Amino acid sequence: MSKSHVLVLPFPAQGHVNPLMDLSHELAKHDIKITFVNTDFIHKQIMKAKGHKEQVGSDQIQLASISDGIEQEENRNRHEILLESIWQVMPKKLEKLIQEINNEAESEKISCVVADGTMGWALEVAEKMGIRRGALFWPASASFLALFLSIPQFLHDGIFDPEGTKMEDQSINLAPEMPAMRTTNLIWSNVCDNFNATKIGFNFLMRSSKVLESIDRVICNTSLELEAPTIAFAPKILPIGPLQARKSNDIDQSATSFLPEDPNCLNWLDLQQDKSVIYVAFGSLAIYDHIQLQELALGLELSNKPFLWVVRSDICNGANYDFLKEFEDRLSSRGKVVNWAPQLKVLSHPSIACFLSHCGWNSTIEGLINGLPFLCWPFFCDQFIDENYICDIWKVGLRFDRNNGIINREEVAYKIKKVLIDEGFRMRALQLKEKTINSVKEGGSSNKKLKNIVDWIKA
Ligand code: UDX
Repeated sequence: MSKSHVLVLPFPAQGHVNPLMDLSHELAKHDIKITFVNTDFIHKQIMKAKGHKEQVGSDQIQLASISDGIEQEENRNRHEILLESIWQVMPKKLEKLIQEINNEAESEKISCVVADGTMGWALEVAEKMGIRRGALFWPASASFLALFLSIPQFLHDGIFDPEGTKMEDQSINLAPEMPAMRTTNLIWSNVCDNFNATKIGFNFLMRSSKVLESIDRVICNTSLELEAPTIAFAPKILPIGPLQARKSNDIDQSATSFLPEDPNCLNWLDLQQDKSVIYVAFGSLAIYDHIQLQELALGLELSNKPFLWVVRSDICNGANYDFLKEFEDRLSSRGKVVNWAPQLKVLSHPSIACFLSHCGWNSTIEGLINGLPFLCWPFFCDQFIDENYICDIWKVGLRFDRNNGIINREEVAYKIKKVLIDEGFRMRALQLKEKTINSVKEGGSSNKKLKNIVDWIKA
């Protein structure tokens, strides 16, 4: 009998690759073979970061890669060029890869494709090749997905024009108890900085949104306990997460890291007192202004608390990092700055007191499953929904006030003090941790849904 063989295709970004690899591990536990397909560029980056080790922690998972069609290095910094290229080049490359895999062994042909929610074209490729089983996976919150699924309605209501270039700035609340979101924080208007780019970004997402609309269910890395009103509003969302809470200790997050992790920060954390350190990290994409970064540094200094701060080398476009070196030297007795951290291990370390985060969905749930209070510093897009969840719905953290667009050092130090003094934040965070972790345990709501997916794939 043929073995189930799933081809998994993430969008080429850290916050998408990580949770899809977590899902792959869950499927692999059920004797499902996985071919995990990154773009060549991302595959090389990961291999370099982890010293060219192919192992990901399961014999059932094999890695493959295809080109994203971008030839010139400078074009990689332009989001719209990547989006257009993905759409034009990758379908043919994927088709060729599937043909090659299928020609290898009759008993191990691809039986199902699971693609990122923004890569819905992959299901069209699969369908064309006679692969009937396909599913989409959404790595962000169900509320953000519900917003996406509502795009046709927004177009109908005239909130956007048909090219996505003109948009009314308004706060949208799809249902009571769901978090609010501003139309201007929808992705294409954030990452695309000119008229033409906005149109390309919008078209890319409209195409994904059409596939999302056409299928019966979308697997989402969330839980009923976290987002019940949204799942009631959009019942085709299947909450199977948080996958990070299912991860066993022997599965290393560095297997998919685009940057090499700095392991020394864990030794440094070992030297700190319990619940004393502020962990500051802004995910893989956020970019901050030079002045803003300096204010954050001075705010951390003013807070008088130990801190571990992840500063990627590209966090501030074209900036001079001299101030940071000087700052690090000055505060070396109570602060550590690293380029990339083993975040899951850091967040579960007993010395961490709170998470100052950009509120990407992965970071949000990684903080939640460790029962940590948050300080929210969103950069774009769905991160504002997550901030809304953290501060207004779950009440496990605080947002920063801006003065002339800047969060100043006094505000940073003040909010750090406030979130640490009020025990209520930690108490609610621990309660939410318990509920969230229970959902992935035997009998839990996410666990049942994941079992349904496994059965459906193997059927
Ligand atoms: C992006 C979007 O910003 C996010 O809102 C969306 O939900 C997913 O795609 P990103 O900005 O990178 O992701 O943030 P996040 O979702 O938090 O993902 C970052 C991942 O990188 C996390 O899994 C985190 O653990 C990992 N990470 C981050 C590290 O391993 N080390 C670090 O130093 C920082």
